[in-house]
Amino acid sequence: MRYDVVSIFPGMFGTVFSQGVIGRAVERGLIELHAHDLREHTHDRHRQVDDMPFGGGPGMVMKPEPVIEAVEAIRAENRGPVILTEPWGELLDQKLAAELAQEPGLIIVCGRYEGIDDRVRAALGAREISIGGYVLSGGEIPAMVIIDATARLVPGVVGDPGSLAQDSFSDEMSGWPQYTRPAEYRGMAVPDVLLSGDHARIRQWRRQQAAGRRVLRTEEVKNR
Ligand code: ADE
Repeated sequence: MRYDVVSIFPGMFGTVFSQGVIGRAVERGLIELHAHDLREHTHDRHRQVDDMPFGGGPGMVMKPEPVIEAVEAIRAENRGPVILTEPWGELLDQKLAAELAQEPGLIIVCGRYEGIDDRVRAALGAREISIGGYVLSGGEIPAMVIIDATARLVPGVVGDPGSLAQDSFSDEMSGWPQYTRPAEYRGMAVPDVLLSGDHARIRQWRRQQAAGRRVLRTEEVKNR
């Protein structure tokens, strides 16, 4: 899987993806990450990537030429779809992550300012993706989220495939409470069933706990 990210802050990607599961996947050659500086594709002295919106209004809009030229240059190496990070985009969930993880690569353009000139989407046949119903100051963190959520589904990236199958969303369940040693901590004991060694009972307990866990927990917090 090859990721190409286009951003005005390509330096943001270096540290994040040299660590942990994704860092190891890069080291092992399972995934490739390339962060490109959008300003490299400007032709003016000020390396301007944004301009005022036609029709007026606050803020600035990302100019089409640098983005389109950046993506055209990348396309020689990456045949994957183009993604624009936008707060109004299609919502990223586990199903969309799994779909994107099937691609040979992804080209992700990080939006900034009030948005990207809409001709970019049209010209590149790009897909707009949002990571949630809130507005961030730029598309770099959304790009990182898209990369992390998809890269860990690439075969071999997560060491124990069992931990993928158990992922909360894979089966539309929301996980079960987990415990590790010590069996008792500050008077709080781990549920007996987990120490019983009775795997059928443990499975049943976990299934019961998992059903509707998010709804229950959300209610619990609301009622505090
Ligand atoms: N840019 C700003 N906010 C965003 C969000 N929630 N998802 C994707 N891109 C964004």
